[in-house]
Formats: sequence, structure tokens, C-alpha cells
Amino acid sequence: MDAAYLSDWANLLLRWLHLITGVAWIGTSFYFIGLDNQLDPPKDGNPRVAGEQWSVHGGGFYHKQKYLVAPERLPEKLHWFKWEAYWTWISGFCLFVLIYWGQASTYLVDPAVLDMAPWVAVLASAALLAGGWVAYDLVCRSPLGENEATLGAIGAAALAAVAFVSCHLFGGRGAFLQVGAMTGTIMVANVAMVIIPGQRKMVEAMRRDEAPDPKYGRWGKQRSVHNTYLTLPVLFIMISPHYPMTWQSRWNWVVLLAIGLSGALVRQFFVLRQKGRNAVWLPAGAAAVVALLVWSGAPERGAGAADAPAFAEVQTIVASRCVSCHAARPTMEGFAAPPKGVVMETPQQIRRWAAAMRQQVQTEAMPPGNLTEITEEERGKLLAWVAAGAPAQ
Ligand code: HEC
Repeated sequence: MDAAYLSDWANLLLRWLHLITGVAWIGTSFYFIGLDNQLDPPKDGNPRVAGEQWSVHGGGFYHKQKYLVAPERLPEKLHWFKWEAYWTWISGFCLFVLIYWGQASTYLVDPAVLDMAPWVAVLASAALLAGGWVAYDLVCRSPLGENEATLGAIGAAALAAVAFVSCHLFGGRGAFLQVGAMTGTIMVANVAMVIIPGQRKMVEAMRRDEAPDPKYGRWGKQRSVHNTYLTLPVLFIMISPHYPMTWQSRWNWVVLLAIGLSGALVRQFFVLRQKGRNAVWLPAGAAAVVALLVWSGAPERGAGAADAPAFAEVQTIVASRCVSCHAARPTMEGFAAPPKGVVMETPQQIRRWAAAMRQQVQTEAMPPGNLTEITEEERGKLLAWVAAGAPAQ
């Protein structure tokens, strides 16, 4: 069995795991943020209970009470939420290494952006990954971290800077995923390095019959709130590889920033709504931003519409620029099977994929990193052929 084939399976299994653990993590995270925002003052007068909620789910009634700072005695059994987050990161990191580091010359490096050796790209990617967390954590712990509004503004500026740098180092798709991996790493590190250690200290204090220090609760809460705003932007980034019109655009770092901030606005709408406020301008603003992106990114009508070339010419271009990967048995190193099942060896096959070809060729997503060095003229010809209805002659 060859390595590329096994790598496809590793890709599938890791992605599946990443999705499952991510759903579990985000589910509990959204649930607890919502719960916190919807707590009512307790009815039974226990002074340690800060708030409570009754709810009904799955055929039963639930009565939840939040203790601030802690209950009088440590309960015998305490459920922790951490493995969902840890496994999301472990699976995501392995996937990132497998695709973006393992095949850096295809997915991370784009000579049209910056010509660098794959190992240099991998080093830069790793440094950004670690540096992002260190910088974020330092700012949160500094006096700046005490004001949520300041922190929010710094966060937005930092996202802009990271998106800019990443999109000027790597090919668009890799750049987006780099920012996503950095953000995801920050979110999981918040759990592993701040929230869980703080909770441990609180539990240990209670075991020693001491009052737990409320600052750990505050710190944990702050990071958990940050995570909630990062969730929607990260989820967009994780699905972005399917949508080259986002990361192949010339202003891709602005697109990343705009969609990321729109996601945070939408999340803010839900957080406020849970608190009983209805700030509809938030999702309206997000929709306006996205509408602006859709409008401004639209390709000019008839772009590249030279006279449609004869089909034989199309076939020659495809054979020299696409088929090394898109063949039943690819000759390109690292490909065990045709990517996405797209095979373009016979005339029928080429015509079958014409519409998909337009999207991929127009956005310059294909060939990835322009590995096969397609020319602008050839792109124009392929597009003109598709625009003319992909004729068979
Ligand atoms: C270096 C290998 C390589 C070359 C050369 C290449 N592709 Fe691809 N192609 C890929 C990979 C990898 C994917 C899957 C991308 C992904 O994971 O979303 C893909 C996916 C596609 C898809 C499916 C997109 C989707 O998401 O449904 C189309 C269509 C496509 N390529 C067309 C082309 C065309 C047209 C050319 C030539 C101009 C070309 N490719 C050249 C590697 C290549």
C-alpha cells in the first residue's frame, strides 16, 4: 500500500474525529454560555447559589444551580469538561500537519505569493501557531486584559494583522487555515492552560478546607467568553477550503477579516438575546458586510471571454496542466487517487467537469499553487470555452 493512499484514509478518519469532538465541545460551550446568561435569582434562598434555571429536555425536567464561588462542600463526584476540547485540538493539529505541513508545496506555498522552500513555510507556520497563543495570553494577563472593550478592539486588530501576514506568506487556502489553526489553538489553550488549571486550584483549596480564590473563576469565565466569540469565525475558516472565491481573491485577508468579524457579531446577537436584549442590528450588520463581499468579489461578466477555442485545444491544455493529478492514476507525486474524484482524461470527462472547472480556474484555485504552471492565456481559453457552453467541437 502506498503512502498517499494511507494518507487519504488518515485524512478521512482524523477529519471525522475532529468534526465529532468539535461538535461536542462547541455544543457544551454554547450550552454553558447560554445557561449563564439565562440564570434567574435562586428561589430557595441559598446564599451561595448565584442563579438557577429550570428547563425541560429529552422528556425530563432539569434544575440547574450555579454556585459562585463554590458550594460549601466539594461534591463527591464532579464532572469536568475538557476532553472534548483537547481531542478537537489533537485531531485538528494532526490533520493540519498531514495536509498543510506534509504537503506544504501544494497547500501552503504559493510561489505567486511568496516563493519559499516547503520547510521554511512549515517553520513559519509553526512559529505563528505558537507565537499567536503566547502573544494573546500575555495581553490577557496584562492590565489591558482588564477591559473587555479594549481587549475586543485589540483582538480585531490582531486578527487583521495575522490575516494580512498569513495571506502574504502562504497561498490563500493555506493562509486561511493557518489563521484558523492559530485561533483554534488559542481556544484550546484557554481551556488547557487557564480554565482547567484554575478550576483545579479551586478544587484543591476546597479539599484543604480553604475558601477558593474567586480570581480563578473570573479568569476562567473571561477566556470562556473569548472562546464563544471565536467559534463562528473558526467554523467559517474550517469550511473555507471548499470556497476558493474567498481565499483566492486579491483582498483575501480582508475577506477573512470581514467574515470573521461578521461571525463574532452574529454570536454577540445570540449572547445578548439570551440576556433578554434584541440587538437585530448585529446580524443585519453582518449580513450587510457579507452582501458587500458578494457584490465586490463578483467576477466581471465576460471576463476573459476571448473567442472560444476549439475543443482539441482545451483538451491539450487540460492534459498538460490538470491531468497529472486529475487522472484515474495520477502521476503527480503524493496523489494516490484523483482529487475529489475529478478525472479529466477523456473528452466526456472534461465536458462533465466544465462548470466546476470554471469556478476552480477563474479563482485560480486550480492548479494548486500553480504547480503545473498554467498561463493566463490558457486560463482565458478554458473560461471562454466554458462560457460558450463547453462545445464538443
Ligand atoms: C497538483 C495537483 C493538481 C493539479 C495539477 C490540478 N488539480 Fe484540481 N484538484 C487538486 C486537488 C488536491 C483538489 C481537491 C481540493 C480540495 O481538497 O478541496 C482538486 C480539485 C479539483 C476540482 C473539484 C473542486 C471541488 O471542490 O469540487 C476541480 C473541478 C479541479 N480540481 C479542476 C482542476 C483543473 C481544471 C485543473 C487544471 C487547470 C486542475 N484541477 C489541476 C489537485 C490538482
